[in-house]
Formats: sequence, structure tokens, C-alpha cells
Amino acid sequence: MRVPGILILLVFLCNSCIPRGSEADKRPYKEDAEELLKQMTLDEKIGQLVAYTSHWDVTGPVVSNDSERYIKDGSCGAIFNAHEVSFNRKLQELAVNESRLGIPLLFGYDVIHGYRTTFPISLGEAASWNPELIEKAARVAAVEASACGVNWTFAPMVDISFDPRWGRVAESTGEDTYLGNVIAKAKVRGFQGDDLSTNNTLLACVKHYAAYGAPQAGRDYHTVDMSDRVLREVYLPPFKAAIDAGVGSVMTSFNEVDGMPVTGSKYLLDDILRKEWGFNGFIVTDYTGITEMIQHGVAADTAEAAVLAINAGVNIDMESSAYRVKLRSLVASGKITEEQIDKAVLWVLEGKFSLGLFDDPYRYFDEERQETLLSTEEHLDLAYELAAESLVLLKNKDKLLPLKPGTKVAVIGPHATLQRDLLGSWIADGKWKDIQTILQAIEQINGKDKTTYAKGAWFIDETDKIDVAEAIATAGKSDVIVLALGESWHWSGEAASRTKLGLPKAQTDLIRELKKLNKPMVMVVLNGRPLTLVQEYEMVDAMVEAWYPGTKGASAIADALFGKINPSGKLTMSFPRNVGQIPIHYNMKNTGRPYDPEGQEQKYRSRYIDSPNEPLFPFGFGLSYTDFIYDDLRLSSSSFAKDDSLIVSVNITNAGPYEGKEVVQLYIRDLVGSVTRPVKELKGFTKINLAPGEQQTVSFTITEEDLKFYRADMTFGAESGDFHLFVGRNSSDLIKAKFTLDN
Ligand code: NOJ
Repeated sequence: MRVPGILILLVFLCNSCIPRGSEADKRPYKEDAEELLKQMTLDEKIGQLVAYTSHWDVTGPVVSNDSERYIKDGSCGAIFNAHEVSFNRKLQELAVNESRLGIPLLFGYDVIHGYRTTFPISLGEAASWNPELIEKAARVAAVEASACGVNWTFAPMVDISFDPRWGRVAESTGEDTYLGNVIAKAKVRGFQGDDLSTNNTLLACVKHYAAYGAPQAGRDYHTVDMSDRVLREVYLPPFKAAIDAGVGSVMTSFNEVDGMPVTGSKYLLDDILRKEWGFNGFIVTDYTGITEMIQHGVAADTAEAAVLAINAGVNIDMESSAYRVKLRSLVASGKITEEQIDKAVLWVLEGKFSLGLFDDPYRYFDEERQETLLSTEEHLDLAYELAAESLVLLKNKDKLLPLKPGTKVAVIGPHATLQRDLLGSWIADGKWKDIQTILQAIEQINGKDKTTYAKGAWFIDETDKIDVAEAIATAGKSDVIVLALGESWHWSGEAASRTKLGLPKAQTDLIRELKKLNKPMVMVVLNGRPLTLVQEYEMVDAMVEAWYPGTKGASAIADALFGKINPSGKLTMSFPRNVGQIPIHYNMKNTGRPYDPEGQEQKYRSRYIDSPNEPLFPFGFGLSYTDFIYDDLRLSSSSFAKDDSLIVSVNITNAGPYEGKEVVQLYIRDLVGSVTRPVKELKGFTKINLAPGEQQTVSFTITEEDLKFYRADMTFGAESGDFHLFVGRNSSDLIKAKFTLDN
């Protein structure tokens, strides 16, 4: 390995004798970066602001000849999608040995819900309500990806969304900001670990900043328009949470907010992110985000788009070439200054220093680690555990589940034998061809001789009569029908918005036909978003939401059906009854004409004339094989002062026959504010495990901090007055108390 002399000197300087002031605590590598910056030509500086993709063809990973040339001449600072040690080493050698200053490359990749070991999709992970497990999963993903030459992940995705038409809810934590904050922090900690410069951590990139989850009509990339209050209260906090947890980079989103594409928004990138929040990492665009500002209609050409982006504060241009092609001439013509470029470059170099790339640019390239660290037993066990905790039991009539092993079971439906779908939309390096199917997992636990299978239907709307006839014949000989239905994996994720959220018609028709057999039916549903399942809910006896559950998902599903696992997941997005209810979320406002579902016919009320207001399954909903009883909700006092706190306690008893985990949820409602407040807001949760007959007291502490919001004058603070407090198993089944926040 040849490290250029200039770098050796720099590293020596960096690590030994540069005194660090108070800013150095926040930007520990600023001086190192400044030293390096002094050596750089304008072109080399611009190079650090450029990222290009690699792709895989029949020969393996490749980058274009142009990209190779850019790396060699120092006009490319980051490569993404390359995740193979020998390939990445080759590119790093080009950067380190052939470019004048030898500045190492960043290697970015979408490591979203696992690398080789694939965990449930993010919406499923969130349904575990288990931040410790989610953090561990991100840690495993970092260990695996970093063993394959990756040092930067485009995660966590923390977009809040109330709209299941938007396919990217699969990648999100759901509709709640509080939960989103908790998970954002857990994921950043998991990816970045305690020390970014160790060779098994990834620099994280929180995305997609901002409000990307609120596109009009749920259509991906579409316009976002909202009040500053909603932006700050609902959509921004998970980004702030990630920043507080030390996230190293932020990705701008494709959408506009208030008429300006985020990639050109000085308000979002500079005023809020840098100045208000003091973000000290680097900012990268989403794929071709800069030149897309031409289509958005705020830039006439590439040069104008580049000016908007650099003025707003974008540091790295992902893929659009605008920076590489235009920044030099823009400096020459005085439209932007070299100081602006310097500022941007410093952030990027500091990121590279934080990864320790200047100490050892090859620290992520170790064939032995690549050979030994992927899908270890320990990683697979974690994938199983998280898949198990992400399963949500939506219905269990007459306690049909769990089934007894050895029951004559007919497994029907396309998802029973599909492998690719189990992994969901981002599979990084997931090897789907090796994984167990749901059918195989059921056969393993129930016995091959007791388990039969028919496909029954596919994902298209038409019912094939032959498939249905075969399914009826197969199911006719069984005691219980297990349906494995849902969406196809590519129906959610990026660019996968839907206007209809039902199962494919053929699948619903299939259930209708099978229902005529009068046999107990269990439906396992695999999907990347809340679906409208009213008809199916009425027809089947039991329903399990399985998402796309990952590498070990099939065994988790089978084990849940046969009682080795007691489901404990809870929904983090409301499941609407119909598309017309969207956007739908539990923390809506009361309105001046609230609807009372218990009341008589109420005409002039905020309601539909053809549908209940309530979703089919509310936020936080999920059943168990056992029964949890909530009682004795008590407060340490009926009021508390702003510098004091309130302790809320409740007893939970497992009154059923199985051991089980329960997510105990705490909500509040601020009854009168200087602006209207939601009817409920999640403010705490904890997941407990209880043996049959066991009781546990769960306590939460409420402080003034929990009651803060953007008041009428847009200051952030709490207002004294009366509050309702709710504790319970989901956002609608709750026990209530009251308290007052004193003046
Ligand atoms: C586009 C997606 O919006 C983003 O989530 C992803 O990280 C980038 N492409 C890079 O793959």
C-alpha cells in the first residue's frame, strides 16, 4: 500500500500536535480537514463533492470508465452501490495511489434492513416496538456491510407518513413521531456504534430530509405542502433525533416543500439543519436530485440547479454530474465563490476523517471478514427474534391459534412458496435463493405428511379457475386452511404507490370460495403497507400480519402459527377500511364538530356518510395468544409544576394461559392550547414479558418536556392547564386519568 507522503505528514499533524478548542469537540476533525484543504486545487475540491454509482453486470461489480478516470484524477469523492472487498479495494487504490492527494473514497450503499442477514422491512421492525432489537439489527447490518467494503449507509429512513398509498411506508417507521424518534436514535447508534473509526461501523445517512412521506395523493415524488407547524411537529423531529444521536450525514429528499425542492431549500438545509440544529455532518442529495430541479421548474439549466444546491447547502451531488460539470465555471463567473465550495468540502473531509480513512483507507477491505462475518448463527438468531417480534396478530376468533402440530393443514396461496418476497424491497446482499419458504417451515414443524399445498391464486386480479379448483380440492381434505396471501414484494418501496389497497381480487375471490368449505381459516398476510382488509377480516377466523419478514421470517411465521412464538407486534400505522379514509392516523385533531361513534345519527359532524371514521385496525393494535388485563392506573399527584414530574403507574396482569410480551402504551391529550392539539399523542411505551398469572407494575415519568409543542407564536414550550392521560394496549383501547400542569 502506498500512502502519499503528503498524507503521511497530514495524519501525523492531525493526530499529534493540533490543539483543540471548544469547536473541536463538535468538529473534532475540522483542523485536519482544513490542513488538507489548503493542499487542494479547485478541481480536487469539487471532486470531493461528487458521488457516482457502480452497478453489477454479468462479470460482477463495475463502474463506468468515466468514473474510474474521475477517481484517478481526484474528481470523484464517493462511490455507491459497490459492496465487494476486492472491487472496492481496487477503486480505493485508484483514489489513494493515482490521484494527486490520495484522498480515500467513501463507499455508500443502501443497507436498510440488513445486509446479507435480512431483517423484516423497516415497517415490520417498527412493529416490534423493540428499539433494543432494532439497534442490534442495525449493528449486525453494519458489521456485515463493513466487512464487504462499505463504510457509509443510506439509512435510517425516518419519514413519517399517514398515507399507505405511498409505497415507501414499507421503509418507514410508520405514522408516529415519538416512535420515529426512538427508532431513529436506535438505528444511528446501531450503524455508527461507539466509534466510527473502527472497521465494523458505518457512517449513517438519515433520509429523506424532509417531509417526503407526505406527497399529495400518496404518489411518490409528488408535491408536499404543509404548515411550518406540522413540518416541525410531525415530520422533522426524527431527523433531529438522528442528529442528536450523532448521525454523520443527511440526504435531501426529492420532493418540494412550500414551492421549493428540498435540494435547493436554504430554509431546510441551512436555516434549520445547520443553524438551528447545529448539524455537523455532510449533506448529500438523493439520486440526481440537483438536476431534477430543472424538471421541478426552479432552475432553467444544470448551472442554475447547481447554484441553487450549493447556495442551499448541499455538499455531495449524488449522480447528477451538475457539480462536476458546472461548479468550476460558476466560480470563474463569480456566480458562486470558492469559499462556498471550501465549506462544503470541509464537511465531506471531516466525515472521511471520522471514519479513520486517512489512517487506513483499506480498513474495510478484508477478505477474511467478508468470508466469515456474513449470516453468522448469531446474526440469524437475531433475524429470527426480530421477525418473531414484528408479527402482528390481527384476529384470533375462538382462539383458533395457535394450532397443534400434527393438525391436517392445507397451505394455500402464492406466498407459501415464494422466497424473494420474504426479503422485501431493499435486500442489499440478501441471498433469497437459500432461504426457507413458509410452506417448508410449516412442514418442518407440522410434519410433511400432515401438510398439503396449493397455490390457489397469484397477484393478478383474474382468478384462474384451475388454481381455485385445485386449492378447493386440497383444502377439502384438511382440518385447517392456512392462507399465505398479500402483495408482491415490488408493490411497495420506491416508486410503488397504489390507489387500491386491497388484496388482488383473485386472492379475495379465493378466500370466498374456500369459505364455502366451512373450515377454520388462518390468513397470513405479507405486504409492505397497511392494506384495506375489511372483507378478508370478516371471512377468515385468524389473521397474522407478517410484512416481508426477512431471512428467518418463514420459521418465525410457522412457529407463531404453532405456538412456539406468541405474537407481540403492534401496528405502527393505522389500517384503513378503505382508501377514502386516507390520510388516516390516530393523532388527528378533534375538529369543532367531532363525531361521537356511540351517539345517534349525527348529520353535521366531521364524519363520512358511507364509512366509519375509525380505521379497521388502529395504531398500536396487536393481539396476543394470552390476555393482558390493565388496571389500577394511578398518578403520583393530580397536578405537577413545570420543574417537577409526574409518575404514572399501571398494573398489567397476564390472565391467559401463555407467556407473552405486551407493549404498554402511554398517550396524552392537551385539552386546551393556544393552538389545537391532537386527540392523542404517544408519549411513552415499554415492552414487558409476563408468565401466565404474573403481574407487573409499569411506571412512566412525565415532565414538562413531554408536553411541549409549537405554540401560537411558534415558540416551543408547554402550556399549563388540564390534560388527559391514557394507558393501554393500543391507541383506542385505553384507560384514562387526568392531570394538570401548574403555572
Ligand atoms: C433513491 C432513493 O430515494 C434513496 O432512498 C436511495 O438511498 C438512493 N436512491 C440511493 O440508492
